[in-house]
Amino acid sequence: MATTSLDPGEGAAAETAPALLEVDDLSVSIGGNRLLSEVSLSIRSGELVGLVGESGSGKTLTGLSLLGLLPANASVRGSVRFDGVDMLRADGERLRRIRGSEISMIFQEPRASLHPSRPVGKQIVDVIRAHETVRVADARSRAVDMLGLAGLPNPRRTMDAYVHELSGGMCQRVLIAMALACGPRLLVADEPTTALDVTIQAQVISLLRRLARELDLAVLLITHNLGVVSALCSRVVTMYCGQVVNDDDAEQLLSAPQHPYASALVRASDVNLDQPDERGGITGAPADPARPPAGCRFHPRCPHAEDRCTERMPALEPAPRGGRTRCLRSSELALPGVEA
Ligand SMILES: Nc1ncnc2c1ncn2[C@@H]1O[C@H](COP(=O)(O)OP(=O)(O)O)[C@@H](O)[C@H]1O
Ligand SMILES: [Mg+2]
Repeated sequence: MATTSLDPGEGAAAETAPALLEVDDLSVSIGGNRLLSEVSLSIRSGELVGLVGESGSGKTLTGLSLLGLLPANASVRGSVRFDGVDMLRADGERLRRIRGSEISMIFQEPRASLHPSRPVGKQIVDVIRAHETVRVADARSRAVDMLGLAGLPNPRRTMDAYVHELSGGMCQRVLIAMALACGPRLLVADEPTTALDVTIQAQVISLLRRLARELDLAVLLITHNLGVVSALCSRVVTMYCGQVVNDDDAEQLLSAPQHPYASALVRASDVNLDQPDERGGITGAPADPARPPAGCRFHPRCPHAEDRCTERMPALEPAPRGGRTRCLRSSELALPGVEA
């Protein structure tokens, strides 16, 4: 039991473990607009993976598809397999059982996800009893334990609190307790710290890191903030215009990114604190996934684009330094990241 997350054997074992979640060639259209195109990614048991990209790139839609929560008018191709179950085609009853007890999701606005006029403890008890046949007293005692685990200083008192009595950071802790109360193996966290103050953000991220280790939980952390990603995740999937364009080790992404968009994102982000004049975003506006440019979707904004990039869409392929990338020039470019 003395192994730590730094044990070199652990990473090696994790790399050969079968994927807990496997998204394969997922395409999603809503109202005739194709918003996700051939998204592929996988998450192993206990793995912490970031999903990054500018607003509108398709991160939330990808997260929702993992739980079978796409809008009813969405048309879907490809597959999302969680522990062997096809989440896109499973019936409603099966999905309801999996959601919460196998995969949970938390969102950006913790307050909006909680009922305003029911004590938060009762809401956690409701979730537990919706999934398991347990007595109210047992569900209550588990809810208290979960609030404690989520770092709320006085879990018994918090049980009886209403949302308006709690700070944003406390609400997010309550939601994390609720999301984890039935022992899921995957937590999808969609911008969980975006609405919080910077110091509270750091606390929530360190909480997620501790819980992931203690509960052997896999996390897909959706965020536009690479600082948050680098504090939690070992691997990062980058999306642009409804596609995965890069899938890499977090360290590789930050120090020597292998895709021009990933490089631009890293250079424009908060992690780039020692080169403040380089910050200020990426030139040009993100392409609309419903009306993508021909060829590589990033080519109109890419400083490295050549004629062929305007004509041919690159596939997501193994990259020169590990991981996968979607760039015709990946083997010839040496792209800047941030200094370690
Ligand atoms: N329910 C929906 N109906 C129509 N378009 C949608 C819907 N949800 C998202 N979109 C569109 O899909 C694209 C991706 O959205 P989203 O996944 O929310 O991006 P992100 O989370 O990366 O900001 C955007 O262009 C958005 O406008
Ligand atoms: Mg989103």
